[in-house]
Amino acid sequence: MSTQSVRAQEIAAENCRRLSAKIHDSQHTHGALPTRDARQTPGHVAEFAADVRASLTKPGQRELPSKYLYDELGSALFEAICVLPEYGLTRADARLLERHARDIVDRLPSPVQVAELGSGSGKKTRWILQALAQHQRTYYYPIEISASALAACEKEMGQIDLVSVVGYEQTYLDGLRAVASRRDEKDHLLVLFLGSSVGNFDRDAGDSFLHEVRKTLRPGDTLLLGTDLVKDVPTQLLAYDDPAGVTAAFNLNLLARINRELGGDFDLAQFRHEARWNAAERRIEMHLRSLCRQTVHIREANLHILLEPGETIWTESSHKYFAQDVSAMAARAGFRCVEQWIDQAWPFAQNLLVAE
Ligand SMILES: C[S@@+](CC[C@H](N)C(=O)[O-])C[C@H]1O[C@@H](n2cnc3c(N)ncnc32)[C@H](O)[C@@H]1O
Repeated sequence: MSTQSVRAQEIAAENCRRLSAKIHDSQHTHGALPTRDARQTPGHVAEFAADVRASLTKPGQRELPSKYLYDELGSALFEAICVLPEYGLTRADARLLERHARDIVDRLPSPVQVAELGSGSGKKTRWILQALAQHQRTYYYPIEISASALAACEKEMGQIDLVSVVGYEQTYLDGLRAVASRRDEKDHLLVLFLGSSVGNFDRDAGDSFLHEVRKTLRPGDTLLLGTDLVKDVPTQLLAYDDPAGVTAAFNLNLLARINRELGGDFDLAQFRHEARWNAAERRIEMHLRSLCRQTVHIREANLHILLEPGETIWTESSHKYFAQDVSAMAARAGFRCVEQWIDQAWPFAQNLLVAE
């Protein structure tokens, strides 16, 4: 077995043990468990409950917002996904950043500060920060809703010489607006949106989102956008449905999180993870399929739902792109794509966009 597989299995096994422990605990406490992502202030609980209620009661297809996949355990499971042999996306993204960090940095205006949307642990960003720090003291602002991912990122990136890290535990646009409003007149901004996270938005929502990002920037500021490219369907499906079951645990943890934080009573054994390729929309969809007729009660959302056998809850989309489409997508949002680097082993594009 490759070192990668062994590492992924070790991380997955450890995280699955933690997942089972938390699920076990939450089934016995019927309430919120303290976690390090203690975003369980009344405001947070109310917002989470309102989002869960609105998306689970949507007419037609039931949904849950993908941003809630990332509590402490969800972020740990996502880290394990990144080292799965089947999930080539993160390695392709990292290879491009490692290979082209100098080219990227050479194309930026100076001096420049760096903001990253949904940094996760920020490991891949090291290449850019190290390249920049050879020219200037560099300020790095990771923006994250997951407190544990943000803490890991601040710890690791804070060790790079000449790099100062200030994390924002906020949503993408709130965080970016805060960073942009505090910078000096002379400072340019490089925004990183890596890992093809833009693909979690529907196409129109992705356009609107990039447009909002553009509105926070000044002409000449830059956005480095990672986009996963369309590839053969079995490869794409395996990336979101690995045989070790790590992605399944990541997906199911969303129900476990609702049990823990909102007093839900989802029985996880009665749901199955499913990854589907939607050819018309060119996206992978993750669903949770109900294995029987069942009722679920979520106390904090004041909600009872009846799920039919086979009915699904749609939890995440990952849209895939053609390399040649990125320039048009950038132009619609007010950016110009000035360079594109493509990984051949796992088709993935790193796109450097300049705000017009
Ligand atoms: C798919 S992961 C990608 C992490 C990292 N950028 C990478 O490329 O590996 C998405 C990250 O964005 C964060 N996130 C998701 N929705 C967010 C939002 N609306 N605002 C801020 N962070 C968000 C999640 O907590 C997670 O760490």
